[in-house]
Amino acid sequence: MKQKEILLFGATGQIGRNLIRKLSKNNYKITAVTRNIHTAGYILKTQANPGYLELVELKNFNLNTIDELFKKSSICINLIGILIEKRKNEFKQIHSDLPALLSKKSNEFNLEKFIHLSALGIEKANDSNYAMSKLDGEKRIKENFKKSIILKPSIVYSVDDKFSTRFMSLLKVLPVMPLYYGGNTKFSPIHVTDMVEVIYKIIESQHENFVLECIGPEELTFKEILKQLLNSIEKKRILLPLPLPIAKLSAKFLQLLPNPLLTEDQLRLLKYDNCKSTLYKNNFDLGYNSIRTFQDEINKYSYNWKTGGQFANQPKQSKIK
Ligand SMILES: NC(=O)c1ccc[n+]([C@@H]2O[C@H](COP(=O)([O-])OP(=O)(O)OC[C@H]3O[C@@H](n4cnc5c(N)ncnc54)[C@H](OP(=O)(O)O)[C@@H]3O)[C@@H](O)[C@H]2O)c1
Repeated sequence: MKQKEILLFGATGQIGRNLIRKLSKNNYKITAVTRNIHTAGYILKTQANPGYLELVELKNFNLNTIDELFKKSSICINLIGILIEKRKNEFKQIHSDLPALLSKKSNEFNLEKFIHLSALGIEKANDSNYAMSKLDGEKRIKENFKKSIILKPSIVYSVDDKFSTRFMSLLKVLPVMPLYYGGNTKFSPIHVTDMVEVIYKIIESQHENFVLECIGPEELTFKEILKQLLNSIEKKRILLPLPLPIAKLSAKFLQLLPNPLLTEDQLRLLKYDNCKSTLYKNNFDLGYNSIRTFQDEINKYSYNWKTGGQFANQPKQSKIK
């Protein structure tokens, strides 16, 4: 079978690395674009067999280089996204201008499809700059290229994520964990393997001009997620609902840190549930069922955060004589 050429932006992230493994095993050739080949190369090179993966460094989106990449590709996938704005207008540039450019190029070079990852639960969040930039990106993609597919995941988690691993690190050391909005915001976490399976099925399908919500098999409140993480790392902590004015004040200060736990924009976004809506179909509607449950999956890697690490639950062995 002739190899299909996939042009992948945002390949070094959690979803990108898992996707490269899935695609290369299934005879797809991937061109992975990264801003820094020297720091990203070693992570990416180990994800696929020789001949299946080409790495390209692109620091600013030079149009001549982009054209060369699109010329030889059949499908473009965009996984580039940020949670925190480090400079003015960065959300707009990353979530709206860049997808607009990539979808325009997909049209110009007559690609089979353009697959873009947006986010779930952002439609009502008109007070969040993150949500508005993602929505604007969706709108511009739809205008630019009819063969686009927009995927809107809830939280995507795994041992490689910046969510479950980060919260386990915090829960391990903090005696009290703040709960924003009483911890009642709902999520539908999807394991990265299930998420990659959805992307793969979309690549293989005939779908075009389509928006799909990507969810896991459960709906959990933020408080339930924290309780499952605590249960998994075998710790007891106080989960303390934080009054909104105090939460806002803490976000104001936290966002000054180089790698903040919470920004004011994220706090505003946390008000809105991150579960399936009635606006679009979701992966279950297409029979792309995600099967992995949060507690089962985190139990597989939470030993890293338990006292005693990987030997935490082993019976004490007698000393070697
Ligand atoms: N993970 C989730 O829970 C989740 C939930 C909803 C939606 N999504 C969306 O799904 C997509 C992929 O998620 P992910 O978790 O795999 O993302 P990730 O781990 O944060 O990776 C994002 C990629 O974006 C690139 N990137 C980051 N900042 C950039 C910048 N300023 N300019 C250019 N490139 C930049 C990085 O590539 P290089 O450093 O190699 O250049 C990185 O590989 C994103 O669009 C995200 O918004 C994710």
